[in-house]
Amino acid sequence: MGSMEKLVSLCKRRGFLFQSSEIYGGLNGFWDYGPLGVELKRNVKDTWWRDMVNGHDDISCLEGAPSPYEMTGLDCTIIMHPQVWKCSGHYDLFHDFMVDCRQTKKRYRHDQLCGRWVTHRDKKAFVTSQEGDEADENIERQAMKFFKVRAKDKDSLEYDGKTVSLTTLDDFAEVLGPDAKELGTLTEPREFNLMFKTYVGAMAGEEGAAFLRPETAQGIFVNFKNVCDSQRVRVPFGVAQVGKSFRNEITPRNFTFRSREFEQMEIEFFCHPDRSHEWYKFWRDRRFKWYTDLGLASERLQLRDHHEDELSHYSTGTADIEYAFPFLNEGEFGELEGIAHRGDFDLRSHMEGKLDPNSNPLTLQLGEDGKPKYRGSGKDLTYRDDLTNEKFIPHVIEPSAGADRATLAFLCEAYTEDEAPDDKGNMKTRTVMKFDPRLAPLKAAVLPLVKKEGMPEVAKDVYKALKAAGIAAFYDEKGAVGRRYRRQDEAGTPYCLTVDGDTLKDKTVTLRDRDSLEQIRLPIDDVVSEISKRVQ
Ligand code: GAP
Repeated sequence: MGSMEKLVSLCKRRGFLFQSSEIYGGLNGFWDYGPLGVELKRNVKDTWWRDMVNGHDDISCLEGAPSPYEMTGLDCTIIMHPQVWKCSGHYDLFHDFMVDCRQTKKRYRHDQLCGRWVTHRDKKAFVTSQEGDEADENIERQAMKFFKVRAKDKDSLEYDGKTVSLTTLDDFAEVLGPDAKELGTLTEPREFNLMFKTYVGAMAGEEGAAFLRPETAQGIFVNFKNVCDSQRVRVPFGVAQVGKSFRNEITPRNFTFRSREFEQMEIEFFCHPDRSHEWYKFWRDRRFKWYTDLGLASERLQLRDHHEDELSHYSTGTADIEYAFPFLNEGEFGELEGIAHRGDFDLRSHMEGKLDPNSNPLTLQLGEDGKPKYRGSGKDLTYRDDLTNEKFIPHVIEPSAGADRATLAFLCEAYTEDEAPDDKGNMKTRTVMKFDPRLAPLKAAVLPLVKKEGMPEVAKDVYKALKAAGIAAFYDEKGAVGRRYRRQDEAGTPYCLTVDGDTLKDKTVTLRDRDSLEQIRLPIDDVVSEISKRVQ
C-alpha cells in the first residue's frame, strides 16, 4: 500500500475523515470530518485566527513588517447579492472548459485530458486518458482494446511522440475518449461556470437566482466601508475571514484536496499603494513561516513566485505556498495558499464596475443606454487618512489559504511509521501521527494501568481536571496498556498519562511522550499546568 492509501485508511479507521453520505454511496467531492478530524481542523483554523488576528500585537511592529498594523475579522454570508459576483468577475470568468462523452455520458475537464497518436495497420487514433500517474498505462490499455491487439502483440502499436494535452487538438473526430469504445464521441469543449446556483425566496425564476460564494474574499471587500467606519481602523490594516466556500469542480479528486465544499482562511490587507510591495513581501514570508512553525518540513514545502505570464492583469506579484503531497508525482507540488498583490482591482470594481477597458469584460457589456450594463455599487470606497487628509483607494494584499488543504498537509506530514516496544518489550512497527501538539485533536490520554486497586478512580479525577481546564483529553481503561498507547499514537495524542501502583503511594503519574517515547514521573497536582504548557 502506498503512503497515501495508508493515510486514507487511517483517516477512516480512526475517525478523521469520512465520505459524505457514505451509506447512500457517497457524493463525489464532499467530505465529512469525523470526531478526530473536526478537532484537528478546528485547531488549524483557531491557530490561524489566533496567530493572524487575536494574538496579533497591533501596537508593536512585527519583525519584518514595514510598520505596525491592525487586524480584525468578519463573518459574512455564503449567499450574497448576485451583483457581487458580476463585479468580482466570477460570473463571467470563473469557469473551466469541459468535454462530455456522448457514449459513456462521462464528463471530463478539458485541460485534464491528455493523449497520444496511436497507429495500427494504417488506422490512426488519438487515444486519451485523464492526467495522472497512470496516464500512459491507461492510454496503452485503451489502444489495445480499441485496435483489438493482444498483450503479446502490443509492440505492433506505434506511438507518435509523447503524451500531450487534449487542448492542443482542434479536431475531435479522431479522438478516442478515456472510457469510450468508438472514435469521435467527445463533444467540443464547453464553458462551465464553477459557481453553485440556487434560488432565494419563493421566486423560482431567474429573478430569485443567487450563488453560493466561491471565495470568502468578496464579503470583506463589500464590507470595507463598514469596517473602516465602525472600527476607526487606519490603513494599513487587515480583515480576516474563515468560512465555507463552494465550487462545482468538474473533477474533484485527491481526497479533500479538490472538493466542491471547502473552507478558506482569507485575509484582505489594505495598504497605501506606495508601500504595497513591501507589504506583499512581508505577507509572503510571514505566511510561509506559519506552515514551517507548525511542522511542515521545508523540503516538502515551497514558496513559488508566479512567472509574469501567470499573473492576473491587475496583479504585480503573486506567490503560492505549495506542498509535495504524496498523491502527486515525484517533484510535483500542490497549492496550499496563494498570496496575491491585487492592486486596487476589487475595491475599484465594487465602486465603479468598470476597469481597464482592454482587460475587463465587464465594460464590454453595454446596456440599452450604451452605458456599461454591470456597474459597481456606486458607493465611494475610497479611504481618507484622517492625519494626512490624503484620499486614495487602498491596494490589497491577499493571503488566501484553504483550511482543508492545510489540514490535509498536516495529516500527510504527521503520518509516520517507526518502531516502538510492545507490551512484552519487543520492538514492533507502529503508526504514529506526529502532529504539532497545538494541532493534535487530543492533547492527553489518561490510562489506569489496570482496572482495579483504585487506579480508575484516580485516573478519572486526572481526566476530569484536564477537561475542566478545557484540555481535550481522553480516558481509556480497556485492554493492555501497550495497545492503548498504540491507539493514541494513531490518533496523534502527544501525551499519555498512566496511573499505576506507585501513583497511589507517591501521588505521581507517568507522562509518556508520543514522539520520543520518553517517560517521566510527574506529580498529579502538576498535570494540568504541565500539559497546558506543553500544548501551547
Ligand atoms: N480569494 C482568492 C482565492 O479564492 P484560490 O487560489 O482560488 O484563491 C485559495 O483559493 C485557496 O483555497 C487555495 O490555495 C486552496 O487552498 C483553497 N481551495 C481552492 N479551491 C479548492 C477546492 N476545490 N478544494 C479545496 N480547497 C480549495
